[in-house]
Amino acid sequence: MKTIIVYYSLEGSTRKVAERLSEELNADLLELVPVKPIKNNGSKFMAGGGQVMFKKCPKLREYNFNVADYDRVILGTPIWAGCFTPAIRTFLKENELQYKVSAVFTLSGSGKSEGCLKKLKKFCPSILNDANLLDTNNPKNAELNERRIKNFISRVAY
Ligand SMILES: Cc1cc2nc3c(=O)[nH]c(=O)nc-3n(C[C@H](O)[C@H](O)[C@H](O)COP(=O)(O)O)c2cc1C
Repeated sequence: MKTIIVYYSLEGSTRKVAERLSEELNADLLELVPVKPIKNNGSKFMAGGGQVMFKKCPKLREYNFNVADYDRVILGTPIWAGCFTPAIRTFLKENELQYKVSAVFTLSGSGKSEGCLKKLKKFCPSILNDANLLDTNNPKNAELNERRIKNFISRVAY
């Protein structure tokens, strides 16, 4: 079973989880990086939220990915304005993933992931497993995240 984890991260939380999962699941890793990144400062909510609202598909830095090389794709995304991130939208539009996306993990401040999952499943109806994680930059979330990550791994490791 050849797996790739495809993710976007602005502030590092999603990257941290993606790297951990890549090791534990022996999966390849692909980070999506927009050509014009959102700046990680006070303007990020307006800039990032605006892209989400207008369903923007920002141009990504060139990446190496051939869907035929993989049996499944796991997506990782922060939740922005109740949705998955614009870089993930671009990736989904650029690739004929069909039924290869089998799982997703989301990172958020609030832990509310239902709306985001619903929107993502419209693109990827094959999603069977998900992990709803909280910002890893807040140490208070460590215990809950650890439980949820372990549970996720137990469901997707095969
Ligand atoms: C533009 C923007 C919009 C966000 N919108 C939400 C949101 O709607 N709900 C939520 O719970 N957290 C929201 N957050 C918080 C992030 O989802 C959270 O901090 C996440 O852990 C960031 O992941 P990252 O470190 O991989 O970038 C938002 C953050 C940004 C920058």
